[in-house]
Amino acid sequence: MAQEDVFKKIVSHCKEYGFVFPSSEIYDGLGAVYDYGQLGVELKNNIKQYWWQSMTLLHENIVGIDSAIFMHPTIWKASGHVDAFNDPLIDNKDSKKRYRADVLIEDQLAKYDEKIEKEVAKGRKRFKEAFNEEEFRATNGRVLEIAAKRAALHERFATALNDSNLVELRQIILDEEIVCPISGTRNWTEVRQFNLMFKTEMGSTSEGASTIYLRPETAQGIFVNYLNVQKTGRMKIPFGIAQIGKAFRNEIVARQFIFRMREFEQMEMQFFVKPGTELEWFSQWKETRMAWHQALGFGAENYRFHDHEKLAHYANAASDVEFKMPFGFKEVEGIHSRTNFDLSQHAQFSGKKIEYFDPELNESYTPYVIETSIGVDRMFLSVMCHAYEEEKLEGGDSRVVLRLPAALAPVKLAIFPLVKKDGLPEKAHEIMNELRFHFKCAYEEKDSIGKRYRRHDAIGTPFCITVDHETLNDGCVTIRERDTMKQERVKIEDLRALIEDKVSITSLLKKLK
Ligand code: GAP
Repeated sequence: MAQEDVFKKIVSHCKEYGFVFPSSEIYDGLGAVYDYGQLGVELKNNIKQYWWQSMTLLHENIVGIDSAIFMHPTIWKASGHVDAFNDPLIDNKDSKKRYRADVLIEDQLAKYDEKIEKEVAKGRKRFKEAFNEEEFRATNGRVLEIAAKRAALHERFATALNDSNLVELRQIILDEEIVCPISGTRNWTEVRQFNLMFKTEMGSTSEGASTIYLRPETAQGIFVNYLNVQKTGRMKIPFGIAQIGKAFRNEIVARQFIFRMREFEQMEMQFFVKPGTELEWFSQWKETRMAWHQALGFGAENYRFHDHEKLAHYANAASDVEFKMPFGFKEVEGIHSRTNFDLSQHAQFSGKKIEYFDPELNESYTPYVIETSIGVDRMFLSVMCHAYEEEKLEGGDSRVVLRLPAALAPVKLAIFPLVKKDGLPEKAHEIMNELRFHFKCAYEEKDSIGKRYRRHDAIGTPFCITVDHETLNDGCVTIRERDTMKQERVKIEDLRALIEDKVSITSLLKKLK
């Protein structure tokens, strides 16, 4: 099945089973805003727990905060967001549709990649077993011609972006003959910068009201609380502050479901270090964060680092953790060495001294910062994309199974009475009433056991148990494991020990060094 079709299926699965709904759906939705349903919220909370606990339980020197979304507007001036948090926009005069100029060019680059892949596929078909892909890519005339065009475009695009050269961005769009996907024309406006921050007003009268921004990142709430936490927590450098919270960006091109949203959630950690040690900490945090991702068991081959060649003026290193989504390797997390830019800016704009007195050096300095920043929703999407599988079974049957890591699954155990009579529902409830204190359980008595298994496979429930007539005599139930579909008879009193450890967040944390 084409990856595009797989992705469509994942999106509809999310809706059908109560993971993610379009926001305001009965009013035809609201662009790039989504709601998490009854199962989605459980999965999302488990992802957040996994991150939060890995930061605050496994590191003695990392503490959490929860800062407000509304902040003093000068914060965004100091951070550079008011002046520079922009996307380059272009409109098509015929369709009146608005696009991000950089995205139109990135799509064009992707078209060159697709053309190369088509040539490779043709070569594979033509040469069959004798096909040597590496040699073909290095020598085939058509492939080399397309690759050269792509490289030239990439170079020109990177220079234009780096120089914030909007005229050149437009010229690239014209020279590459990029058309509007709606009108099919090349009737483009100039390229303009568009600030991504949402604004609102605080205060009751128009004269007294001031412009307030909805935060586009949670990080600034950490920077402006650096002194509070350092002093009240008597924190010694190196130390970190972690936070999970909503962020808002008026994305122009919002697409790929919950990959790029206007309201989303971030899990960010700022790690304050001694100047000069930041690059060591940067590599250490890259390793730590990659281990966190890989502990989920999705396979190392599905992750890669993308080190930034072009850095923001305040950063001295930056790398993304990319995950293989059905639409290619995409950024899920950013790890940045942000120097002392943010703290220095806030010191300058607030007039406060924001420093650390190092007792070992007997001197004060402005700490440098390593930031790890991951989107909860992107993480959710990567988990869903990896977990979704349409599995062919023996005998021609098939099932949709969500192979979620058990610790992230919304429901850990489904409890089924074989029939709705003979005291079996009562026994099933008795078991549930005992186990519900330890992990999330669900009770189901409708439909055949087979159908109930399928329903729970589709939502990723790692274990199901069936209470039958024998249970009343021998105190045993049949437990069935989602992935292997193996069934075995176990004692009711052993259930907790058998399941709890496997489905707990602790089981994931123990995999982290
Ligand atoms: N404080 C640094 C910062 O915000 P970023 O690369 O702009 O860096 C960090 O964002 C992470 O937040 C991204 O890797 C992504 O997972 C998530 N993210 C950013 N914009 C998003 C959007 N519009 N929708 C969903 N997630 C987003």
